[in-house]
Amino acid sequence: MKILFASSEVAPFIKTGGLADVAGSLPGALAALGHEVKVILPLYESIGENWRSQMTFLKYFDVTLAWRHVYCGIFQLERGGVTYWFVDNEYYFKRAQIYGHFDDCERFAFFSRAVIETPGQLDWAPDIIHCNDWQTAAVPIYLLEEKYRIPQLGGARSVFTIHNIEYQGRYGDQVLEDVLGLNHSYFNEGMLAFHDDVNLVKGAIMASNYVTTVSPTYAEELRLPFYAHGLAGVINEQHGKIQGILNGIDVDLYDPAKNPDIPCNFTAASPAKGKAACKLALQKAVGLQENPDTPIIACVSRLVGHKGFSLVTDVLHQIMEMNVQMVVLGTGEYQYEEAFRSAQNWYPGRFSAQLAYSAPLSNQIYAGADLFLMPSVSEPCGLSQMIAMRYGTVPIVRETGGLKDTVFPYNKFEGTGRGFTFSDINANDMLWVIREAVALYFDNKAAWKGLQKEDMTADFSWNNSAKQYLEIYQRILG
Ligand code: GLC
Repeated sequence: MKILFASSEVAPFIKTGGLADVAGSLPGALAALGHEVKVILPLYESIGENWRSQMTFLKYFDVTLAWRHVYCGIFQLERGGVTYWFVDNEYYFKRAQIYGHFDDCERFAFFSRAVIETPGQLDWAPDIIHCNDWQTAAVPIYLLEEKYRIPQLGGARSVFTIHNIEYQGRYGDQVLEDVLGLNHSYFNEGMLAFHDDVNLVKGAIMASNYVTTVSPTYAEELRLPFYAHGLAGVINEQHGKIQGILNGIDVDLYDPAKNPDIPCNFTAASPAKGKAACKLALQKAVGLQENPDTPIIACVSRLVGHKGFSLVTDVLHQIMEMNVQMVVLGTGEYQYEEAFRSAQNWYPGRFSAQLAYSAPLSNQIYAGADLFLMPSVSEPCGLSQMIAMRYGTVPIVRETGGLKDTVFPYNKFEGTGRGFTFSDINANDMLWVIREAVALYFDNKAAWKGLQKEDMTADFSWNNSAKQYLEIYQRILG
C-alpha cells in the first residue's frame, strides 16, 4: 500500500506535543510491515541545519490558494525506511513559533493544498492520505474534488485522526472562499458550517472516508458533550466510521537500557541498581534532598487546565504532608507555574519546580522518579504515562481516554494491574490513591517490585495498533 501521512509536526524534526511523537513513529511501523510511506510536513525555520544538510531539493511549483499563487518547494529526506517531504515556503514558515500567528488558517490551508498538489507533481499515486488534527483537516475536503482533477489522486482514500478535539480550526465564514478557496456550497451543516463559522475539524469528520482517534475510551468519550467541545452531535451522527486506536510509543527511543540521557541504564530484568542511581542523580540535578528511601512523585506535562493541575494545586499541602518529594517539569498557565514556584519555597529540598521544556531532563525524571502523576481532565491518549511505565515509574492517573486504556488499576488482592487510578475529577479522590501508592511503596517492597515489572514489560509498541490502521486502510480501499 502507498500511504501519504500529513502532519504539522513530526519528531525528531519539529515537536510541540504528542502529535509529533505519533507522526514520528507510526509511519515507521507501517513501513516495517512492508508498505511505502511518505510523511509530509512544513519546512519550518526551526528545523535545523543538521537536518537540512541531509535533504535533497526535488522541485518547486505554484500552489493555488483562492486568488493567490504561491511558491511551494519540496525537499526530501530518507530515514528509517520512511521518505519525508518538507514543504518549503518562507513567507509562511520562516517564523520563530510554529503556531499562534494571525494567519494560521492561511498557513495551514497552504500546507493542505501543498499536500494535495505534491502527489501529482512528483507522480506518486497514494492509496491512503492520512491526515492529523485541524492543521491538515482541509486535505480530505480538498480531496473530494481534486481527485477528479489530479490523476494520481484518483484512487486515494482519506483517513483523519483526532489527537485532541479541543483544537478545531474554527474561523469566520469569510475564510471559506478568500483563504480556503472553497466554493460556497461547502458552507452547509453537512460539511464546514458550524454556528455560522467555518470549522475545519467538522469538515474533515464529514469528508473523510474514515476517522480515528487515539484511544478506544476517547472515541467513546467524544460522544459526550463534556469531551467533544461542541462536536458531540457530529461525532454521534458519524459514529459508524469512527474508531479509537491506541497510540504506541517508539520503544527504541524510550528504552531505559539504551537511553543516553540517563546517568545509568537499566533493564526490566533488574532495574533496582540503575534506577537507584538515576534517582540520586535526579535529586542532585533538581535540588531535592539526596535520599534513596523517599518516593519521588513526578509530573512532566504542559501546565494547562485540561491536564488536571487544579487537582494537584488543591491538595498540594496534603500531598506534601506525606513523606514524599515532588518534581514538576513543564511550562504553561501562570497560575500553575506560580503555585509550583511557591511550593518550591514552602518545601525546600522536597519540592522542585522545573518550569521549562527539556527533553533530556524529562528522560532523567522518567528514569529517576518512583511515581508519575497524570490527573488529566481529558486525555485523548497520553504518551508520558507509557514512557514512565517503560522506566519502571508507577503511574497515578485519572481514568479518562488513553490513561484508562493503558493504566489498569492495581489490585492488591490479586497483585495485578499497572498503577493507581481514580475516576472522578475530584482532588480528594486523587489524594486517596496517592496515599495508597505511597503506602504500598513503603510497606510492601515485593508488591512494588512486581508492579514495576508489570509496567516495564507491558507492550507499548506500535505492533498491534499499526495493524489496526492497516485494517482500516484495507476496509476503505474495498
Ligand atoms: C495530543 C493529545 C494526547 C495524545 C497526543 C498524540 O497531544 O492531547 O493525549 O497522546 O495528541 O496522539
